[in-house]
Amino acid sequence: MDDLRIKYIDAIAAAADEAALEELRLQAVGKKGEVSLKMRELGKMTPEERQVAGPALNALKNEINSALAAKKVALADAALDARLATEWLDVTLPARNRRVGTIHPISQVTEEVTAIFADMGFAVAEGPQIETDWYNFDALNIPGHHPARAEMDTFYTHRAEGDERAPHVLRTHTSPVQIRSMEKTGAPIRIICPGRVYRADYDQTHTPMFHQVEGLALGRDISMANLKWVLEEFFSAFFGTEVKTRFRASHFPFTEPSAEVDIQCSWEGGTVKVGEGDDWLEVLGSGMVHPKVLEAGGIDPNEYQGFAFGIGIDRLAMLKYGIPDLRAFFDSDLRWLRHYGFASLDQPTLHGGLNR
Ligand code: PHE
Repeated sequence: MDDLRIKYIDAIAAAADEAALEELRLQAVGKKGEVSLKMRELGKMTPEERQVAGPALNALKNEINSALAAKKVALADAALDARLATEWLDVTLPARNRRVGTIHPISQVTEEVTAIFADMGFAVAEGPQIETDWYNFDALNIPGHHPARAEMDTFYTHRAEGDERAPHVLRTHTSPVQIRSMEKTGAPIRIICPGRVYRADYDQTHTPMFHQVEGLALGRDISMANLKWVLEEFFSAFFGTEVKTRFRASHFPFTEPSAEVDIQCSWEGGTVKVGEGDDWLEVLGSGMVHPKVLEAGGIDPNEYQGFAFGIGIDRLAMLKYGIPDLRAFFDSDLRWLRHYGFASLDQPTLHGGLNR
């Protein structure tokens, strides 16, 4: 029994891993293990012999079992220590930089414009960027031969050979949304429509894609005076200072009378400041919606009238945030975007301030 004891206790102490330990357990105290076999022999002993051998065997079995359990714990501890030694983590290291994008100035300004007009009761309407020539031109009182079609440098889509239908166009302005909105909700109506428009033109102040916001207000007695008030309210809220406007008689096929609107500004040291000085800067086209346009939108011109306007969003952004070159808006230059972009949590609202 002493031989068994020494054999197993030493072997257990020397076991390299759990598998070796399990092997030893089976050899010693498993069903056919050496200690178990010895215990079976108890039956053949005399009662006197058994009285001595029984407890001694039991003690040996217990001793081996506790040695096995202790070694198992020791092996697990050692394994954990080894892991901790290799998988250490320095929680005092600074966190890795998270790249955060910025809100594009066009998006920001669109939000600002929307917030201001929403406050005056204008809902946001939308229309497709690929338009039929009916919505983009005819319905707006621009017939096929009209010079405005040529002036607008329109992008036309391609039709298959032999297909005689008029090609679709990339909308040249947001005015087609006037017609779509009239059809959808009828009058009275008060909407703005911000969105992308397209013209084949490219230089420091023109890009083939740019942004407008259309405005449309129809009611029974809406007049040019309401237009002027709404625009002055808008510009003053947008630029955060009182801005005078100047209406210049103009011509658009879809408004009568028509006016181009300038805002007051000063040019000093090559930079433009809105709301001061006595220079003027053209920022939009507007007028009273032409009766033919109302009719095209399914509205009776004897019952309803109102105004429409179209403002260049990119121009507004350049003026407000001092951005000199329009083309840079669409270059996707990360340095430019980081410089002129806005933090994503700084969403403009009238109560929180339009720009912080
Ligand atoms: N659609 C015109 C343009 O793009 C602007 C405009 C809109 C003028 C509404 C009058 C009324 O130049």
